[in-house]
Order: sequence, then C-alpha cells, then structure tokens
Amino acid sequence: MVTASAIPQMVINMHNHTPCQSPFLPNQAKLRSITPMSQDNYLFEFLLDKPEEFSSCMPGQFVQLWLPGVGESPISVCSGRTDGTLELCVRKAGRVTGALFNLTEGDWVGLRGPYGIGFPIDDYLGKDIVLIAGGLGIAPIRSLWQYLLDRREDFGKIVLIYGMRHSQQLLFRQELKLLLRRSDMRVYIAAEEVIGPDLPTVSWQLGRVTDMIKQAEIDPGFVAAICGPPVMYKYVVEELKQKGLSPSQIWLSIERHMKCAVGKCGHCFVGGTFTCRDGPVFRMDSLRFLPEVIEC
Ligand SMILES: Cc1cc2nc3c(=O)[nH]c(=O)nc-3n(C[C@H](O)[C@H](O)[C@H](O)COP(=O)(O)OP(=O)(O)OC[C@H]3O[C@@H](n4cnc5c(N)ncnc54)[C@H](O)[C@@H]3O)c2cc1C
Ligand code: FES
Repeated sequence: MVTASAIPQMVINMHNHTPCQSPFLPNQAKLRSITPMSQDNYLFEFLLDKPEEFSSCMPGQFVQLWLPGVGESPISVCSGRTDGTLELCVRKAGRVTGALFNLTEGDWVGLRGPYGIGFPIDDYLGKDIVLIAGGLGIAPIRSLWQYLLDRREDFGKIVLIYGMRHSQQLLFRQELKLLLRRSDMRVYIAAEEVIGPDLPTVSWQLGRVTDMIKQAEIDPGFVAAICGPPVMYKYVVEELKQKGLSPSQIWLSIERHMKCAVGKCGHCFVGGTFTCRDGPVFRMDSLRFLPEVIEC
C-alpha cells in the first residue's frame, strides 16, 4: 500500500504529467482532525489544498475520497460551510474506508468533486422544511441543517427527525444537544432499542423515524429532505403522504455503487438515471422508475 505521506508528491506528479483538465484528478487534502462519534463512525476534518475547487459545494453533494494504492469511495459532504475545510462522516465498511481509519492527523488524501446535485436550496427558500435522517443518512442532512441555520431568516419552520437502530449509533451528540436547545427548530431523535449502559445524553425516544413523523407538527405546506437506508424510504414517504405532502414536495438522497462519479462508467445507473450525475438527491416525482430506486 502507498503510505499517506507519499500522496502529495503523487498528486503533484499527476498534475505535472497531465496538462489537460482531467475530471479524475484529485486535489490534496490534509487530515486535520479525527473525531470518533461511535464505534465505527468517525468524523474526519480535512484542510483543503485548493479550497476554491470546493467553494460551490452544496448540501447533498458528495466527493470521491481517494487513498492511493487502495481506491476511491463516494462520501457525502457533511459540513454546510465552505471555509477551506471539509468534513466527512465515515463508517468503516471495507477497503477504502478501513484504510482511512488507519490514517493519523497530518496525513494526506485525495479528494475530487464536489459531484452530483444536492438539495434544492432555492426551492426551499421561505418554506417550512422537515429534515429526515436514518442512521448514517445524518451525514448529508447535517450539512443541510448547518446551511439552513446559517441563513435562518430565509426559511420557515425547521423540523429535524433522526432515527437509528440502537442508541449507541447516535452521531453528532454534542451538536444535537445544542440544536435541541434552539427555539427556532424542533428536533426529534428516536432509537429502536437501547444497547449497553451508554445511553444518549440527549433527549430521545424509543421508536422509529416514522413514529417521530407522526408526532411532529408537519402540515401540507412543508417540503421534506430525506436520507437513510433504502428500506426506510417507503415508510417515511407513506407517513409524509399521511401528513398531506405530495411527491413534488419530497426530496430523497439515493445511494448507489459508484466508480467514476461523472456519468461515464454506468455503475450507478438505476431507474433510467445516473445517480452520480442526476442525483444523488432527487425530487420524488422525477424518479421515473421509483420501485427500482427505493423499496416500495
Ligand atoms: C452518494 C454517496 C454518498 C455516500 N456517503 C457516505 C458517507 O457520508 N459516509 C460513509 O461512510 N459512506 C458513504 N457512502 C457509502 C460509501 O461510499 C461506501 O461505504 C464505501 O464506498 C465503501 O467503500 P470501501 O472501499 O470502504 O468498501 P468496499 O470494500 O468497497 O465494500 C465494503 C462493503 O460495502 C458495500 N458498498 C460499497 N459501496 C456501497 C454503496 N455505495 N452502497 C452500499 N453498499 C456499498 C460493498 O458492497 C461491500 O459489501 C456513500 C455512498 C454514495 C454513493
Ligand atoms: S458512477 Fe460512473 S456513471 Fe455514475
């Protein structure tokens, strides 16, 4: 495996040998901090070598994280601010993510992007919004709440609903504590079961995301932004319909296997669409072959 310390020179060499603008060239990013959030989910903060390349980054977009000699993985942008740093919340799943967990602060990685179409902020202006996250789906939803709260006066009511399988999987504990204290948003957190003595130190309930949607004050004027495991979508969408929302008011972030991230290789093609290029965020009524894309 190529060590992390070799990355800067490799990237420089690649740039020197390739005068044309290849969309596959990563930019360097230095690992600034690593924050464990649960057993296998860490928050990685990167200092960007070329912040301008990421300055247009919007909530819901993703980057390709590159570890030389290991490979690339798509990871959602998790921070809603573009200040020269970028945060990624990563679950240790396999080769690339596992290798990332072996890095230490000061090491370098490659990042290319941002890619895809994120949440439609312009459509959300002035509207009441419900953000719904299941499990690791909290990563892009976190970038969205940061973005919205930084421009709080531009939006109506904000409701955040976050569910997880068991209590130890609660991510962004400290940040959620602060959100729960805010008077200008409502936060509902639910775990399906409690495991071990490590109870969340935030206000939470036993139950599912759908139970929280039932409780929440959501009226037919709301728009919804959802990210979570595919199995969740069917039930969440059903509950939102019960609240009076139509498919044109619901945006879903869809996860598929990806390689190129620029609409070339076809790995992410599903339901007549390239998830990497046309998504990963889709308005529900724009998905032509919905049952292929979400379990419904
Ligand atoms: C748009 C998008 C955004 C994502 N955002 C995040 C994020 O913010 N944080 C995060 O931790 N992960 C995220 N993922 C998932 C992440 O890309 C995969 O977990 C990662 O590619 C696994 O790579 P690996 O080399 O570590 O694992 P591998 O060794 O490639 O695979 C390990 C296991 O994960 C499965 N896997 C790989 N890719 C995917 C995928 N896309 N969907 C489902 N299963 C997969 C493999 O089939 C295998 O079973 C995102 C994926 C997409 C498409
Ligand atoms: S990942 Fe290659 S076409 Fe989408």
